[in-house]
Amino acid sequence: MPRPSDSSGKASVPLHLAVIMDGNGRWAKRRLLPRKAGHRAGARNLRRLCQMCGDAGIKYLTVYAFSTENWKRPPDEVSALMALFIEFLQSYDAEMEKEGIRLRIMGDVAGLPDDVRQAIREAEDRSKDRTRLQLILALNYGGRAEIVHAVKSISEKVSSGELAAEDITEDLLKTHVYLPDVPDPDLIIRPSGEYRLSNFLLWQSAYSELWFSNVLWPDFKQRDFDQALSSFAARDRRFGGVK
Ligand code: FPP
Repeated sequence: MPRPSDSSGKASVPLHLAVIMDGNGRWAKRRLLPRKAGHRAGARNLRRLCQMCGDAGIKYLTVYAFSTENWKRPPDEVSALMALFIEFLQSYDAEMEKEGIRLRIMGDVAGLPDDVRQAIREAEDRSKDRTRLQLILALNYGGRAEIVHAVKSISEKVSSGELAAEDITEDLLKTHVYLPDVPDPDLIIRPSGEYRLSNFLLWQSAYSELWFSNVLWPDFKQRDFDQALSSFAARDRRFGGVK
């Protein structure tokens, strides 16, 4: 897909942006609010981010909403998050329709509660023909679990004789991740002053540009988004080659 480019031919806008929405808990703590209030503010900010992405011409936005490790959180926080996902999927739909947003999920959906799975099915189905922006929620997602999932499905094909061990290549593995049609993220943003990927998009991030900031996720605004995109536009991406 052609991207807006500068005179040197470098893509200046990411085709695919991924965001680790970190810092909700600290945002709430600073306001003497419960952690779930921070997640609610984070969800509101996700709506703003979708608008910014649509306006900027980004076609895929993946956000880390719940990791395979997040089940370790206190049960009341986990259930507040699950309720928030359902509320988001239902209440945001009219706005998503206006913005041309298709909703997709990446992760182990089978491990989510029934009511969340049902809300996901409905939201995916309602939005499947929208084309302006794909919003991908990483839910019950882990990069290592995704690689295990891909390896298992390839192994089954090798066992049944559909594939031979020699057929296993990077390109083949790529077709067995959760969403094989989605291109790798060009830029990954992590706010809140942490400098790690936390098991997010491990396979896909091999050549992603990274951008960090100290702002907590609910406070991440248009100015921060613009700074991240300007920084991305100035990067020299060589993918292991030379100029
Ligand atoms: C990390 O911040 C955030 C999460 C584990 C949850 C992310 C979820 C949302 C932003 C809710 C909205 C999402 C959707 C899809 C409606 P943290 O709680 O670990 O923050 P802390 O490091 O400050 O404690």
